[in-house]
Amino acid sequence: MPYHNVPVLIVDDDPDMRTLLQDILEDHQYRVLLAQEGQEGLNHLANEPCSVILTDLRMKGMAGLELLNQAVKEFPQSNVIIMTAFGTVESAVEAMKHGAYDYLTKPIKTDELLVTVDKAMKEASLRREVADLRRQVTREFAFSQIIGKSKPMREVFDLIRRVANTKSNILITGESGTGKELVARAIHYNSERRQNPFVPVNCAAIPELLLESELFGHVKGAFTDAKVDKRGLFEESQTGTLLLDEISELPMMLQAKLLRAVQEHEIRRVGSTRAVSIDTRLIAATNVNLSEEVKAKRFREDLYYRLNVIEIQLPPLRERKEDIPLLADALLKRYKEKEISPTALGLLMDYQWPGNVRELENVIERAATLTQGTQITVEDLPHTIREMGGERQTIESGAEHFLPLEKLEQRYIARILEKTEGNKYQAARILGIDRKTLYRKLSELKNTQKN
Ligand SMILES: Nc1ncnc2c1ncn2[C@@H]1O[C@H](COP(=O)(O)OP(=O)(O)OP(=O)(O)O)[C@@H](O)[C@H]1O
Ligand SMILES: [Mg+2]
Repeated sequence: MPYHNVPVLIVDDDPDMRTLLQDILEDHQYRVLLAQEGQEGLNHLANEPCSVILTDLRMKGMAGLELLNQAVKEFPQSNVIIMTAFGTVESAVEAMKHGAYDYLTKPIKTDELLVTVDKAMKEASLRREVADLRRQVTREFAFSQIIGKSKPMREVFDLIRRVANTKSNILITGESGTGKELVARAIHYNSERRQNPFVPVNCAAIPELLLESELFGHVKGAFTDAKVDKRGLFEESQTGTLLLDEISELPMMLQAKLLRAVQEHEIRRVGSTRAVSIDTRLIAATNVNLSEEVKAKRFREDLYYRLNVIEIQLPPLRERKEDIPLLADALLKRYKEKEISPTALGLLMDYQWPGNVRELENVIERAATLTQGTQITVEDLPHTIREMGGERQTIESGAEHFLPLEKLEQRYIARILEKTEGNKYQAARILGIDRKTLYRKLSELKNTQKN
């Protein structure tokens, strides 16, 4: 049975007890790890996840209850079974309140031990399965979540497909809100590593002093707060993908350490001399121009070239305006029975979107919340967008020459067609007319041009 691959951790300071439990469990195809007290147990857990922890309550060193508390906090994937001497059942009940899975009373009966461990194992493996399923679902959505039909986005999709299964490090660049994290996820979930972890870390969000131990882990005693060994994100993303977001914010000292990790495929936890070999796919992302940072000597050139083996540049939204109706539609699906008026959509297409898709997301959310009816209208859009709107521009440019209404309409139609790259379906939607009407107006336009 597959779940037997994940070990059971036995924590007891009595060597006879350890051997007894080990023998019984190993006889029944369980893999077993042994520890004499809580701290040693936690160190095992830091190195390898366990499904079940079988621990005595009273021990020299770190006692069972403290181990339980730490495990519940740091290793929630493990089920803790408490072993307690006959007549001290209250302490076991206390442990259950702290999150223990079950308890056994000593002397341990073989049958009872096997039934309880088996139940705890199955429960843990079920939880893992659910987590895996959830990951699979995310994977299936990962690609369909990226919306865009414009040429620059089609190039991005193409690149994602081609690089997903290579080992190359990737640098994703693009303004804030253009979908860098989304693309990083799509690469991971389209690669052979999809079953393994995808671990994103924002280098700008973690205080400089913590970042090193966050990335590379530490051993107990490496610094004052290092009470137990800890795996860093490099180890957490082992066999998976590590996204280093806002890479330009990585301090120089860590740039050197990262370079070593990339070159040698191994890392050292803070305070340790032991090298841990690393099989992690690295994706870096940034919204600043890294080569400028290199020129300004704020970013190491050698690291830049190591990370930037393949670059994926995400276009700003204003350079792919034809995707705006698609995005608006997809975002509106979150708010059932709401749609957007053609004029409002036209305004969205004329806006410059400094915050890109994230800003569009916010605008749609706000409008869908504000609108009284089912249709989002110009009034539901923020001032900035209304004022920069294309309607005003068109009317104003028309006013300069005092065009007849019919001419103004024709110009406007021509302009929208230009924007939609000749897509009549989209143009009709934006203009708020059906396609037939658009065709009629276009043939009228042709006729006037002929005359
Ligand atoms: N092409 C797209 N299709 C659908 N949604 C998108 C697209 N691009 C971005 N988004 C959405 O916009 C939001 C911002 O995307 P994401 O966080 O990936 O951007 P980012 O480039 O990492 O931004 P930042 O530089 O601010 O971290 C997310 O909610 C994401 O789902
Ligand atoms: Mg991001």
